[in-house]
Amino acid sequence: MENNKEMLNQKLVDMAYQAMEHAYAPYSHFKVGAALVTESGEFFTGCNIENASYGATNCAERTAIFKAVSEGYTKLCRIAIVSSSGEKTPPCGICRQVMAEFMEEDAVILLADKLGIYEYSLKELLPAAFGV
Ligand code: THU
Repeated sequence: MENNKEMLNQKLVDMAYQAMEHAYAPYSHFKVGAALVTESGEFFTGCNIENASYGATNCAERTAIFKAVSEGYTKLCRIAIVSSSGEKTPPCGICRQVMAEFMEEDAVILLADKLGIYEYSLKELLPAAFGV
């Protein structure tokens, strides 16, 4: 069981690195990739997509989440985030709020660096989240 979870974590991190290859980051040169799995077992990936009008940039996590939601999957369980920095890349505040909308109570956020994969809960990353 524990082994299955580790295999899933590694698969998501590998998929996130693959998605990072498509990052469009000519302004920051900071490439980000994300991969998630839905409650029903579907996988979606995303990369950051920058814009000459910087504020129009979309983060990798939101790309992956919006791909899932736009395909009808609104219950997301686990998401991995990686970047070209090789360091842990915590999600930005907007992405955390979007995660709060679509990630289950017990959802897991995976951050990776060169040494390992680390698990976080949404509550840890976004305590006292806004909701209606
Ligand atoms: N970025 C992400 O893709 N995810 C985050 O959570 C943090 C920031 C991207 C946005 C921009 O393209 C680049 O990283 C530098 O901020």
